[in-house]
Amino acid sequence: MKQVFVIAAVVLSVSVNAQQVKAKQVISDAESQTQLLLKEVNAMRTAKPDLVSPRTLENGQLKMVAAKDWTSGFFPGVLWFLYDLTRKSEWKTEAQNFTALIEKEKTNGGTHDMGFKIYCSFGNGYRLTHDPHYTDVIIQSAKTLATRFNPKTGVIRSWDHSKEKWDYPVIIDNMMNLELLFEAAKLSGDASLAKVAISHANTTMKNHFRADYSSYHVVDYDTATGNVIKKTTHQGFANESAWARGQSWGLYGFTMCYRETKDKKYLDHAEHIAEFILHHPNLPKDYVPYWDFNAPGIPNEPRDVSAAAVIASGLYELSLYSKKVKTYRAAADKIMESIAKYYRSTPGENHGFILDHSTGSKPSNTEVDVPLNYADYYYLEALVRAQRLKDKKSFFNN
Ligand code: GLY
Repeated sequence: MKQVFVIAAVVLSVSVNAQQVKAKQVISDAESQTQLLLKEVNAMRTAKPDLVSPRTLENGQLKMVAAKDWTSGFFPGVLWFLYDLTRKSEWKTEAQNFTALIEKEKTNGGTHDMGFKIYCSFGNGYRLTHDPHYTDVIIQSAKTLATRFNPKTGVIRSWDHSKEKWDYPVIIDNMMNLELLFEAAKLSGDASLAKVAISHANTTMKNHFRADYSSYHVVDYDTATGNVIKKTTHQGFANESAWARGQSWGLYGFTMCYRETKDKKYLDHAEHIAEFILHHPNLPKDYVPYWDFNAPGIPNEPRDVSAAAVIASGLYELSLYSKKVKTYRAAADKIMESIAKYYRSTPGENHGFILDHSTGSKPSNTEVDVPLNYADYYYLEALVRAQRLKDKKSFFNN
């Protein structure tokens, strides 16, 4: 595997003068890749209909997941973004079909990943169609997610697994699930859902961040006192390191909280996180981070394109609210250009995933330097956002 990183680095160093890849080409390649992926997905689903979404490649083979998997909403989301970018009814139909396959998750209170699953699928569907059934699913899902909130800790519990390690674990990723709560509060008029989101964001801001605005991955709470027991990692290099995707979830999450509340402390916080990322000495020249900013073997460490895609999408939104419009937009453009040039799948390869070279969990040696559905999702979201900025249109309307 290591050899691949070295080869990638050599290719990068000789390709700096390559032509800028045009968005039109990127979108058309993404369509062709997704058509390829759909064929295989449909063939696999004939034998195993409970597997609803392609997640990654495992030993070169397509890995499908059930609706309960935290990544099940990203593939429907990719289909919605292809519809958004092309306005072809075929993509809308596929998006509707794959979205419907995960509806049952709306009552699954066993996980905090509801936002990832339901907002990326039904949320995008609602944004693009205003289907009233999608409204119901979003509200029901948010109510289920809110059952995981504990007023003593002030946060939503993330995981129920690994009870021997943590009493009440909250991961930085959970910031992403607040968007569902804010949307459901608006759609239902139930302000308590937004209150849960605000409490979670405030408590996370207080307990997850270090003085340099990098974040811990997992903070463990004592439900009797509400105090923090310990601050650790699960997918990062070390408890005190800055796991790249965690930093991206924080950036995106606090930017979104500012959009939903207009509370300036969230904007300031998102800007601080952006500064941490963009000025980090270990951020590579192409702005696609290594899997952890403190990974011990840098520069011979795998990249995480999924983190880069989340950062790009987050920075496009942050540029709408910040005075540093040009800085953040230029940084997002640079990430998008790097991904388009160096990290996309070769057409016809990778079973149809759009991007390569993401890292799911390096410490457990799973999903290292592979395609991941959430990298594709946030890359297409960032493409939509870049296009909307160019056209001076809102991100959030049809
Ligand atoms: N939410 C899980 C991850 O970022 O890997």
